[in-house]
Amino acid sequence: SETEKGVYPYYMLKEIDEQPNVMRKLSAKYLDENGAPLFDKKLLEAMKQADRLYIIGAGTSYHAGLVGKNLFEKLVNVPTEVHVASEFAYNQPIISDNPFFIFLSQSGETADSREVLVNVNQKDFPSLTITNVENSTLSREATFTLLLEAGPEISVASTKAYTAQIAVEAILAKGLGEFKEIEVAKNFDIKQQLGLVATGMQSIVDEKATIDDLSKKYFVDAEKSFYIGRGTDYFVSLEASLKLKEISYIQAEGFASGELKHGTIALIEDGTPVIGIITQANTASLTRSNLQETMSRGAKKITIVSDDLARNDDDIIIPTVDELLAPLLSVIPAQLLAYYTSLNKGLDVDKPRNLAKSVTVE
Ligand code: G6P
Repeated sequence: SETEKGVYPYYMLKEIDEQPNVMRKLSAKYLDENGAPLFDKKLLEAMKQADRLYIIGAGTSYHAGLVGKNLFEKLVNVPTEVHVASEFAYNQPIISDNPFFIFLSQSGETADSREVLVNVNQKDFPSLTITNVENSTLSREATFTLLLEAGPEISVASTKAYTAQIAVEAILAKGLGEFKEIEVAKNFDIKQQLGLVATGMQSIVDEKATIDDLSKKYFVDAEKSFYIGRGTDYFVSLEASLKLKEISYIQAEGFASGELKHGTIALIEDGTPVIGIITQANTASLTRSNLQETMSRGAKKITIVSDDLARNDDDIIIPTVDELLAPLLSVIPAQLLAYYTSLNKGLDVDKPRNLAKSVTVE
């Protein structure tokens, strides 16, 4: 059944492996056979009125929101802000005249996010909750809901909910962009792209042994590590490093690769693993020179690179998809690296210390 581990030693690996199928399910649920998005007209109308989108989330859901910002800005041409729920609740920025709020929450129960929603409802602002749990608190209290269809996520470290959130944001951005007659959105073949993403994810999980090897070679004995990238590669770096921290207890920082030299590079020592994520053509060579800077300070460089940008000395080459959806693939090796490092250290992958799956206190 959906809630059994079956042949898997841990839920996390099962949930990582389920991701290609989640992509196909979302494609089937939210797109018709011609690839046209199927959303409630009322949702699209409400979102169309907005002069600004506000995405609210915590932890991994916040990171999925950062990727969403790029999707909404590129495909819908609407300014989009992303906020950590616990900050937004008590340190509110100036809100635009016609805001629309998007809550991202796997569980739909996170207290920090709910606190923001209570405020949003008091002000009568329209809202959408994107969640994995039907009838959850955040779903019931928001104006609209979209479900992630990821199936129960049991491992504390979130994997398939992150990619499902990004996929739903992408389909929604495509649908809303088309509704607003934005040219880029009209030309974005989301159905074909999600198909490529599903196949690409499958090819990465089929090669998981190579990531196990990298984990044993460079991470099991590491005390600290870095993920670096620019733009969406930076956003994925934040999620990638969170995965590693959560379950392997290795200090890991996700950093904007250009910002590293402004202080944090002081932390690089002999053998410190630095993983560069490179999926965006316009910043690929910049991130490569930032990696070079860390190597000349002794770092061990590892790269996760889209096929079309790859060179001979790259480590993990992932299939090329539209740059907007590249985070759906670049995060998979990072999830696997966190998984194997935790496993190889003999830790309880699914139940890391100090963490809860859903946090219902502020
Ligand atoms: C907890 C979990 C995280 C999760 C965060 C937000 O801290 O350990 O994995 O990302 O809550 O949860 P949500 O259910 O709102 O996505």
